[in-house]
Amino acid sequence: MKAIVLEKAGGIENLVMKEVAQPIIKDEEVLVKVKAISVNPVDYKVRGNEDVLGMICGRNSPIVLGWDIAGTVVAVGDKVTKFNIGDNVFGMINFPGTGSAYAEYVAASEAHLAKIPSSTSFEEAAATTLAALTALQVLKNNVNPGDRVLIHAGSGGVGHFAIQIAKSMGAHVITTSSAKNKDFVVSIGADEHIDYRTEAFQDVLSNIDFVFDMFNGETLYNSVKVVKSGGAIVSIPTPEFSEEILALAKERDVKVLFHMVQSDGEDMNTLKDMLESGAVKPQISKSFPFDQMAKAHEQLESGRTVGKVIVKL
Ligand SMILES: NC(=O)c1ccc[n+]([C@@H]2O[C@H](COP(=O)([O-])OP(=O)(O)OC[C@H]3O[C@@H](n4cnc5c(N)ncnc54)[C@H](OP(=O)(O)O)[C@@H]3O)[C@@H](O)[C@H]2O)c1
Repeated sequence: MKAIVLEKAGGIENLVMKEVAQPIIKDEEVLVKVKAISVNPVDYKVRGNEDVLGMICGRNSPIVLGWDIAGTVVAVGDKVTKFNIGDNVFGMINFPGTGSAYAEYVAASEAHLAKIPSSTSFEEAAATTLAALTALQVLKNNVNPGDRVLIHAGSGGVGHFAIQIAKSMGAHVITTSSAKNKDFVVSIGADEHIDYRTEAFQDVLSNIDFVFDMFNGETLYNSVKVVKSGGAIVSIPTPEFSEEILALAKERDVKVLFHMVQSDGEDMNTLKDMLESGAVKPQISKSFPFDQMAKAHEQLESGRTVGKVIVKL
């Protein structure tokens, strides 16, 4: 089968399409014929740095990169109970760990998958994986109905799911993006929009219950200023927070937490229900063929992606 192999961490030229052996499934795994893959910032972070690769993947290069897939089950292990050959499935495979998703066939634990709703395309399903799971796992543990929630980068992969999920939980959603994405974030449910290029959110917001932070650094420091006493922030880029951030958080009685998304079939089933009910709709802004994976990485690295980038097989 064809797979995109990363021989060694580095630039996009290190993503090389190769003929490799089809994976052999374990008892609790299914073999998925992949129809669509989604790409995330972690893909280019791992691709570009051997230390990050080791930390996330738990091994060294060479690897087949990627975690987010949608496709059809073509073989099932002896202990698989939830899926049959012919089922259309989607999920984030083995994260953190090695997902080996940039391939025509992927061995996936049944515990990481859900069935794709009949009205959802493979591309939409592939889009609703790592970014959507991150939004769901962070919000379900931190947000209550009526909360005032600030979501940074609401037009991005995680942010656009976070807006929709927070709205479905009954929160009042405030989000940041540049002006060109205002209409988009309002169309998916944001109650208030702040153009971070012309307005400092910390000057106009206060009394926030929860902040979903995509940046750390200055954005996280300023976010601490707008949260009410007893409130919380989850910041997802790294688990390291500066002394200044931690000191201000302590002074203001604000919790600053990190969350690393985890593969989880139960959460995938929640996302399946949300796709079916219309509570969540993925935005796919760009789609590339399998042999243009490098272009998908370039697009993500621009930092300007609206919604999700998909690669089709
Ligand atoms: N810990 C975890 O498990 C986990 C999981 C998922 C993601 N992450 C991390 O979370 C971060 C976000 O991921 P993502 O997939 O959402 O990224 P993304 O899709 O690449 O985000 C792009 C969006 O960010 C917006 N943006 C850029 N600068 C901004 C700013 N200063 N203020 C507000 N919005 C801004 C852009 O909108 P404009 O063009 O309008 O500026 C664009 O729509 C990444 O660092 C990723 O690695 C961590």
